[in-house]
Formats: sequence, C-alpha cells, structure tokens
Amino acid sequence: MKLKIRNGLVVTSSETFKADIGIEDGIITKIERKAQSASADSLPEFQADEVIDADGKYVLPGGVDVHTHLDMPFGGTVTADNFYTGTVAGACGGTTTIIDFAIQNKGETLKTVLENWHQKAKNISVVDYSFHIAITDLNEGVLSEIPRIINEGITSFKLFMAYKGSLMTASENISRVLAESSRLGFLTMLHCEDGDKIDELIKDFLFSGNTNPLYHSLSRPAELEEKAVSDALKLQEQTKGNLYIVHLSSEGALKQIRKHKGRVLTETCPQYLVLSIDKYTEKPDKQVRERNRFLCGIPDDFEGAKYVMSPPLRGKHHLNALWEGIKDNTISIVSTDHCAFNFYGQKTLGLGDFSKIPSGIPGIETRLFLLYNEGVMGKLITINKLVDVFATVPAKTFGLYPKKGEIAIGADADIVIFNQDKKLVIKSIRLHQDVDYCPFEGYRGKGGISYVISRGEIIVRDRAFSGKKGRGKFLSRRTYQVGSGV
Ligand code: URP
Ligand code: ZN
Ligand code: ZN
Repeated sequence: MKLKIRNGLVVTSSETFKADIGIEDGIITKIERKAQSASADSLPEFQADEVIDADGKYVLPGGVDVHTHLDMPFGGTVTADNFYTGTVAGACGGTTTIIDFAIQNKGETLKTVLENWHQKAKNISVVDYSFHIAITDLNEGVLSEIPRIINEGITSFKLFMAYKGSLMTASENISRVLAESSRLGFLTMLHCEDGDKIDELIKDFLFSGNTNPLYHSLSRPAELEEKAVSDALKLQEQTKGNLYIVHLSSEGALKQIRKHKGRVLTETCPQYLVLSIDKYTEKPDKQVRERNRFLCGIPDDFEGAKYVMSPPLRGKHHLNALWEGIKDNTISIVSTDHCAFNFYGQKTLGLGDFSKIPSGIPGIETRLFLLYNEGVMGKLITINKLVDVFATVPAKTFGLYPKKGEIAIGADADIVIFNQDKKLVIKSIRLHQDVDYCPFEGYRGKGGISYVISRGEIIVRDRAFSGKKGRGKFLSRRTYQVGSGV
C-alpha cells in the first residue's frame, strides 16, 4: 500500500465512522472500519509506505467547486486568479476539483471557446478541472455544435438573464437551449436576474448622481431575482428542460423554486449564507482610510466595492431562508462563484460609477471553513450535509460521481484531513488566492486543513501547498438528468 490514513473519522454524505483508508495508484483501495472497542482494534493493521495519523480528525471527500471564474475577461479587466493561483488557493481550502466557466466572445464557435479554456488551464492547474460553457451569442451554428461539445466531456452550458449589453441573452434563446437540454440531457445553467429592469435602475441611479457601490445592490433588488426565477421556471415547464439555477441569493426566489422541487436544481454560495447588505455601507478602518484618501483618492463610501457581485448581498432574513433551503434540499450545492478582482486597480475602475465596478468576489479558498463554522458549528447543518453540498452532490450533478465527491473503494483518493479543533481567523495576507483583499476578513472559527490529498498525492500540509504546477487533469463529464438521483 502506498499511503494509509490511520484512525480518521471518515465523513460521507450519509455516515460518519472511524476507519483506516488505504490508497494505491491514486485510488482508494481499502477502507477498514474500526470497531469502537479496544480489543477489536488490536487486530493486525495493514502496512503502507507512508502513514498519516488522522486520529481525532475528520476525513472528508475533497471539495468539488462547480462555479469558478479563473483567468476570465470581464468588466473591462481579467479576473485576478489564473488556473495556477486559483487552484492552489482552492487546494489549500480543501477543494480538489473545479468546474470553471469558459465564456464565449461574440461570434466565437463553442469549439474555439473550449480550446481557449483548455489553453488557460493546461500545464498549470494543480487540481482536476472541467469546464461549463457560457453561451453569450447563440445562433444555429452554435446550437448544432452542442452534441460535439458534449462528446468532448462538457455537459453543462450557462446563459445569462442579466448583464444587458454584454453577456445577457434573449428569452427565446433560453427556451431553445432548454429544449435542447431536455433532448440531449445536458444541464442548462441560468443566471436569474431581470437584466432589462436592472439596466433601467442603473441608468436612473447614475442620472440622479447616486454612484457609489451601495447603488449596485439597490439596482438589483431581490424581487428582480424572484421575477427572473419565476420566468425561468415557466420556460422550464414549457420545454421540459434540464434547469440548474446558479448563485441563488434571496428568499422569494427560493420559495418559487421550492414549489417546483424535483424539476429544477439550485446552488447558492457562502457569501449569500454569511454576509449581508450592510457590507455596502461599511467604512474602511483608519489606516486604510488614510491610504485610500490621500494616496489613491478613494472616498470612504467606496469600501463597499469589495462586495460588488451579482446578485448582490441581501438583508439578513434571506440568509436564514437560504439555510432552510439547504436543510430541505431545495438548494443542493454550495459553490463559490470565485470571481476575484483586486480592490486597487480593478474594483477602482468603478470609482464614480458603480456600474463599472467589475462584478465578483473571491471565495475559492474559504468555502469549507465558512460552511463548517456557520453551518456545522452554528448547528444549522450536520457534517454529513456539509459533505453533501460541498462535494457529493456537485460531483453527482456534474457527471463526476463516484470518482469524485465520495470516500469509497474505487473512488479517486481526493481527501481532506480536517482538524476541527484548530482555531483560525481569516486573514487575506495568509491566503493563497492572488487578490488584495478577502470579503471574509476577520472571520473567526475552528477548522484547520492538515492535509489535502489529490489522486493519492499529498498536495497540502498544514496550509502549505506542496504539489506540482500542472498536475491537475481535465475531467470529461457525463450528462445528468434533473430528478434522476445519481
Ligand atoms: O458577480 C458575479 N457573480 N460575477 C461572476 C459572473 C457571474 O454572474 O457568475
Ligand atoms: Zn452569474
Ligand atoms: Zn459566476
């Protein structure tokens, strides 16, 4: 045996048990459950070249983050993390698989989009990866390419109901893609916000001189997410499409989805479970304020740009509603929507005009820690449910299960050894993501990552990355039908 994880508390989505795990050729080949009594434990143990003592620690499946934006041109700039820095950060946060959005430029074929994204990831990603394609320019040619793209292992396509003038697509196009998804079995992922109404509100606010980041959130009220979700559900009903709603943020929209549970899949993200709208009016501390004002000419009310994302943060009652949605399985996945922009130099593109602040925040490295503290320590979910939304359901939904997202014989040995007693405070300076701030700065909790193992290789020890650049492999994915279970 190459590697053994000894005496850990193995957590899957359905059970927690003490066991030794054996790993050979990157695969889990042995799971020896430990009896609770000492006499039974004294049976001879299997041997291995290297043994990790996981006594008292959780042994979790490596995280599967199905929503990232690495090396992505957006909002007049490019996201701060590329496939190296972003996946190192993911690994250090317990994520061993990502699915990134390959974005179609106007006029591009899907073949070209896919080739571009392969170029970005190849030879630098440190964890296994796949792509969704975000279709922004649909036509007959693009539609006819979809079967070929599915054969290349890409089985999910995103469309935007928001970002008028750039990524937004017409509702006829959504219908066409949904109809194709029912025929071909791929997932149609939808960004649900009413882009037309948002565009009007943006213009009104800017016209009346309301230009700071708070107005980003006020121009995207929760009702406009609810309206878009309800339109999307109607289109799904007409087409019988395979629908997956991304980054859900609000209670009303969630209620709509709950009525159609089983017919649609939904994800949310840690930011919508942990942070709320008051972040847009937060002021910088004294030291930062001085630097901002005197060196960079940045006013105090621009601090909220650090939280400009779409959909935006909501009032506190939405957070509770989303946790309820996770508990009753209306929401089955927590991904990150990691879309990092530096505050200085990138977010500042929107000084004096909130609509020019690049939309998105970093989060790839903090998902497990936040879910554990807010969810499990906060007694909102069990540790098994955490595994479900963090790894198992994402792997199932996106055609990677049971190789990914599971601790079982035959699965890839993608494993996180998690020290639930270790106290930590999130500090941007200690993170690996290549961005100059963290929206969760100062968050205190428990849970240190002792080891991260990817296909049997130890790539993180005590938060330090030790894997090789480019070791991550492209994952070709199977199709998945909403409502089919595994
Ligand atoms: O603000 C966000 N969410 N930026 C990333 C693009 C998207 O809509 O997912
Ligand atoms: Zn989106
Ligand atoms: Zn996104």
